[in-house]
Amino acid sequence: MSNSLPTLVAEHPAAARLLSPLGRRAEVPLGIPQQSAQAAGCLRQASIGQITTGDGVPLTVPAVSEHFAGLDPRSAFLYAPTAGLRPLREAWRERIDVPGCSLPIVTSGMSHGLSILADLFGCPEHPMVLADPFWDNYTTIWAMRTGSELRSFPFFNATRGFNLAGLGRRLAELTGPASLLLNFPNNPTGYTVTRREAEALIELILAHPHPLAVICDDAYAGLYFDPDCYGRSLFGALAARADRERLLVCKVDGATKELVFFGGRVGFLTFGVGGAAGEALVDKAAAILRGTISSVNAPAQAAVLAALSDPNLPSQQEEVLGVLRRRYDALTSALKVEGLDALPFNSGCFALIQLRPDQDADQLRLRLIREQSTGVIAVPSANALRVAFCSIDEVDIPDLAARLAAVVRP
Ligand SMILES: Cc1ncc(COP(=O)(O)O)c(C=O)c1O
Repeated sequence: MSNSLPTLVAEHPAAARLLSPLGRRAEVPLGIPQQSAQAAGCLRQASIGQITTGDGVPLTVPAVSEHFAGLDPRSAFLYAPTAGLRPLREAWRERIDVPGCSLPIVTSGMSHGLSILADLFGCPEHPMVLADPFWDNYTTIWAMRTGSELRSFPFFNATRGFNLAGLGRRLAELTGPASLLLNFPNNPTGYTVTRREAEALIELILAHPHPLAVICDDAYAGLYFDPDCYGRSLFGALAARADRERLLVCKVDGATKELVFFGGRVGFLTFGVGGAAGEALVDKAAAILRGTISSVNAPAQAAVLAALSDPNLPSQQEEVLGVLRRRYDALTSALKVEGLDALPFNSGCFALIQLRPDQDADQLRLRLIREQSTGVIAVPSANALRVAFCSIDEVDIPDLAARLAAVVRP
């Protein structure tokens, strides 16, 4: 509808320079959803092609609708707006609680939010910096889809802390627009930067001289087990101090893990800037969403919206956190008992078992399946095995560690 590129050039020069060719082109047209929204409240609503009773209530088929009995039929059975249900977007912004950020856009899970960012900012000329090992889907989302070069640095330094110097070297090599991916609690390491590391990390990023899109992938937000962890997203601290000439901070999070709603596919994408620049970026993200999936699953959005206003939600989340904390403690002890070398983990869902240089991660993974009926993920770049302790009952964790040791230790 409006051309958001001139707005970004004027209001957020870094964002304007960071856009890929697709990101520059992305514009919400005055299409059917927009024309229909303009006609909201009309006596005769003959705009969007939804099957209704005639007064805006969906004409549902009970064989389907009876399975969603607790949800408002208008929210659950009609198309959600392109950027998501407005009350859900507002409720999530309140939950994020970072002043001056955009209204979140609802995405079909977090992978989708990341892929929108990749579309907006990723291209062969704009590399992506990230710590290795990393979640494998970043390769698919950025390198495969957009041709962005992934420039990694080793996650841990020689003393097994977060490798700030490695990141600094990668940033120093950049001469133009690029993205930086931050994922804490991390998949696959299970590591969150400590408070002290976070302070240095924030200063390093703020001092970067070229346009940088910092992407906070907060998939495992809230799952902190060690008091030393920087126990919140870096998004808030970075967004508060970002210079619009150089830095755009983006946040991807969602219901997948925070509300244990893996199949629901409700994620959120938020930009660390409000006002006209934030709206322009949300418009561009919405244009990409309209051109791919068109609209995010409405019943799942309605369910998340209902959950966010349920007074029992915080205690239910605490309960899940308690279960995971006990599994984390049990794994920490069991690894010691079995003499397994784990890389530092203090948060999230995973731990990495470090293998010896003469061991092959994928071969050991296959042997664990065959000989110990145990499934783990091979992480060859770190010569390690990723153990998802979030999926193992606390009482079975000593047995899990014993099975790992039977193959890893000899
Ligand atoms: C680091 C990280 N980011 C994003 C995602 C994607 O989440 P979703 O299932 O909502 O697409 C995952 C899922 O495993 C993840 O580990």
